[in-house]
Amino acid sequence: MGRQHVDHGEIVRFADERVNLKRDDATDLRAQANRLRDRLEGYLDEHPQFELRKMLLSGSLAKGTALKSISDIDVACYISSESAPHNVSELIAWLAKRLESAFPNFKPSQIKPKTYSVGVTFISTGNEVDIVPILYTGDPEWKGNLISQDTGEPLMTSVPMHLAFIRKRKDAHGVHYAQVVRLLKFWAKQRKQADSDFRLKSFMVELIVAYLADRGTKLDDYPEALAAVFTYLASDDFRTTIAFADYYDPKSCASTVEPIRVWDPVNCENNVARLYTNQNKQKLVDAALDAGDAIDAALRAVTKGDTVRYWQKVLGPTFNA
Ligand SMILES: Nc1ncnc2c1ncn2[C@@H]1O[C@H](COP(=O)(O)OP(=O)(O)OP(=O)(O)O)[C@@H](O)[C@H]1O
Ligand SMILES: [Mg+2]
Repeated sequence: MGRQHVDHGEIVRFADERVNLKRDDATDLRAQANRLRDRLEGYLDEHPQFELRKMLLSGSLAKGTALKSISDIDVACYISSESAPHNVSELIAWLAKRLESAFPNFKPSQIKPKTYSVGVTFISTGNEVDIVPILYTGDPEWKGNLISQDTGEPLMTSVPMHLAFIRKRKDAHGVHYAQVVRLLKFWAKQRKQADSDFRLKSFMVELIVAYLADRGTKLDDYPEALAAVFTYLASDDFRTTIAFADYYDPKSCASTVEPIRVWDPVNCENNVARLYTNQNKQKLVDAALDAGDAIDAALRAVTKGDTVRYWQKVLGPTFNA
């Protein structure tokens, strides 16, 4: 019924218009980040002992999962850890100084230490690149201690391996993996705006969708795919521990009593959901239940008005068909 009013095609159109970062904008933002990377490479050619070894685009822009409302350009910066301070705030101040050396044409006011990263602003566009430190000791797969942007603690992981992990799912599901991720991130964004205790990190969305897609959930029809993810979240209630066999044997994962367990695909001692409390879990499950019910109701609704209203409960008041 409701499908004649809002079907896969309408969700695709809404995603193109309101959810996804436009391809050209993504290209421009990536190019900006890559200019910094290239400058660092030039500086390293002249100063081979310099402690900043490499910069790598690392967040949603690298993964192709960015929303239109993207607020930051995440870049990981690999630091030879022998010489870097251990204390996080000293490390960030130290990194800002090193970036000033590598980017001499940036004014100091464009290179700002933040809590757990350094923001580099381009005057021409006003865009900010968030430079996140990774302490590393030369691992060939670029594993290292990523400074958590939530807590400042070191997380042993590998950004290039994360990118390869996501790439594998994108290759298996065409445009649909990234699109379902973006729609869910968009849903989560509305929930966060309504409730500051609602938590759902982008990386967790990517991992949950990967977990379900790996087990046969179809992603190519967006109403069905979204309903399937919400039904899973509401019915599993995070009893299942999410882990991946790409880079380790899931049987070897650490055991923990944390309310939600979503292991980093490259390190099964790093629970990406470590900070989620029982309350966070409950809010997530309740919101998934509501969203699943709303999609069910939308698919059964008779009038176009009702169908759109139910979809708005999931995709927000800007949804229109
Ligand atoms: N807890 C974590 N453990 C390991 N790696 C992490 C963790 N959190 C973030 N990362 C790394 O940082 C990258 C960026 O993560 P995150 O999901 O927070 O932002 P994003 O993908 O840029 O999304 P957004 O669009 O919300 O900015 C991830 O792809 C992952 O490589
Ligand atoms: Mg980001």
